[in-house]
Amino acid sequence: MKKWANVLTIVVVAMMALSAAAFAAPKTWVVGFSQIGSESEWRTADTISVQNAFNDDPSFILIYSDAQQKQENQIKAIRSFIARKVNAILFTALVETGYGPVLAEAKKAKIPVVMIDRDVAKEDQQYRLTIMGSDFVKEGEKAGNWLADYLKSKGMDDGSKDINIVELQGTTGSAPAIDRKTGFANIMAKHPNWKMTRSQTGNFTSSEGKAVMEAFLKADKNIDVLYAHNDQMALGAEQAIKEAGLQPGKDIIVIGVDGVKGAFEAMVAGEQNVSVECSPLLGPQAVQALRDLRAKKTLPGRIWTIEGIFDQTNAAAALPSRQY
Ligand code: AHR
Repeated sequence: MKKWANVLTIVVVAMMALSAAAFAAPKTWVVGFSQIGSESEWRTADTISVQNAFNDDPSFILIYSDAQQKQENQIKAIRSFIARKVNAILFTALVETGYGPVLAEAKKAKIPVVMIDRDVAKEDQQYRLTIMGSDFVKEGEKAGNWLADYLKSKGMDDGSKDINIVELQGTTGSAPAIDRKTGFANIMAKHPNWKMTRSQTGNFTSSEGKAVMEAFLKADKNIDVLYAHNDQMALGAEQAIKEAGLQPGKDIIVIGVDGVKGAFEAMVAGEQNVSVECSPLLGPQAVQALRDLRAKKTLPGRIWTIEGIFDQTNAAAALPSRQY
């Protein structure tokens, strides 16, 4: 009898130990986040989303590093994360190339690197675990397809006359600038009368978007469409168009990307025609990915963000619920 009581005690103690282990708080992870800067409303929303999501989970400590648009600052930050032996690195690449050696160092130190928003070039993707964010090529295609439908619905394009388009590119060499250009060009290829008359970088900022648009207008006012790789540049350019005595959204069709509140306000005011959504609210996805990683789950090679498109037909209804 006593023997069975002892066995029972051992079983109960073992079960308690097992369930305690199962419900034990996860090991605290230190995560280094190398962000590129704060060039746009979008970027600010992205940074806040990541910081809030990690602050809400006490099992993570986030070390945030702002590179202020300098690649060398990002390389230094990643090296310091490696030296501190962080558990994982979250990384947004300012431009696609030039990070191979430092990412190889992280891989050698067995620190997983999770890309967020902007990826690195193909040849360096072997050093990172996964990438979460938007399909920038698709965004460019959505912009082009919207333009085709809009011109058709307004009877403005029967293929016989040139449609003059100017482009404000994002930061040279960055994934969204390369891919949004490619996506839009894919649609342009189907419309031989669409002419890209000028294309220059505005660095994703409002001030440079405005300055470049001023230069475009000074050189030639014969512009039908502005395609800006983000809303921030579109908003700056709208200012330049107004100062040149023209009406943005009417005299010049304005296409932006991101879906920031400023663009919604401009659409409601009739000064911007469309914004292709690119969500910066990546924080919750990032935390979940790192929880999964810590729990030794396999992450998918690509984590996509689902996004829409907004123009003057639905901007006013959507504006009150916009989060960024
Ligand atoms: O990488 C995403 C892009 O970067 C956003 O479109 C832009 O606004 C930001 O600066």
